[in-house]
Amino acid sequence: GGGGAPPSRGAPEFEALRQALRELATTLDDARERELEAERLRAFREVARGVAHEIKNPLTAMRIAVDQVSRTVGQSDRRAAVAIDVLAAETQRLDQLAKEFSEFGRLPEGPKSEVDLVDLLTDLGKSAVPAEVAVTVHANGESCKLLGHYDPLRHAFANLLRNASEAMGGRGTIDVGVRRDGTGLAVTIADHGTGIPEELRQRVFEPYFTTKGDGTGLGLALVRQTIEAHHGTITVEETPGGGATFSIVLSAA
Ligand SMILES: Nc1ncnc2c1ncn2[C@@H]1O[C@H](COP(=O)(O)OP(=O)(O)OP(=O)(O)O)[C@@H](O)[C@H]1O
Ligand SMILES: [Mg+2]
Repeated sequence: GGGGAPPSRGAPEFEALRQALRELATTLDDARERELEAERLRAFREVARGVAHEIKNPLTAMRIAVDQVSRTVGQSDRRAAVAIDVLAAETQRLDQLAKEFSEFGRLPEGPKSEVDLVDLLTDLGKSAVPAEVAVTVHANGESCKLLGHYDPLRHAFANLLRNASEAMGGRGTIDVGVRRDGTGLAVTIADHGTGIPEELRQRVFEPYFTTKGDGTGLGLALVRQTIEAHHGTITVEETPGGGATFSIVLSAA
């Protein structure tokens, strides 16, 4: 009917209030969730640092011992030689794990420098993935520099490219986009691999989450830690046509 309808118990206002309260509740839930996650990460960092430190001494002793034994056992003893190879490879793996742990325990520190993301990603496209994987970097010529910690950022983007390459079985194309986005820089890394089922897209960032037989599950947790230390964000979606697309937003220099 016309414009003469009587105000019906202020319903529209109530509805607006209810809506506002619902939004507030969601915001609070999100904040609490983020706080919990930050706390979990802090605790994990603490443990990781401790483990890395404790592993280092016995591991060094073991590697020296393995090295000595390998010099004295001749090739005549096949079984001993094989066992020594296994020991050498496994101590090497532990050493790598200890390195990642100690890295995880350390937030980027020290002075920042100017980092050109296009240069960095172009360079990694040649060095961080096997030759059968082509990395195309799309940038529209704008300056894509930020003030940051070069080594941790390099490590983080290398991890993302390595994951992308692994998801494609070590061959194919990874499309990298870099562009200015308001006051920030947006990077997208799109692969055409297996993709990540929707219900796992949050969990892949958790420490130890892995679907790989030889994975540590620390890669993406470390990536997110580095991005957040730069006040950035990282999310993952599906690549149109299949695959995973990681989006990173960082603030520009
Ligand atoms: N580009 C991707 N495509 C499909 N799945 C991915 C991709 N990146 C990550 N994942 C999934 O997320 C999981 C966690 O990745 P993360 O890098 O943290 O550890 P990882 O790769 O399994 O082990 P590591 O990095 O130590 O080799 C992977 O095991 C995989 O299931
Ligand atoms: Mg990985």
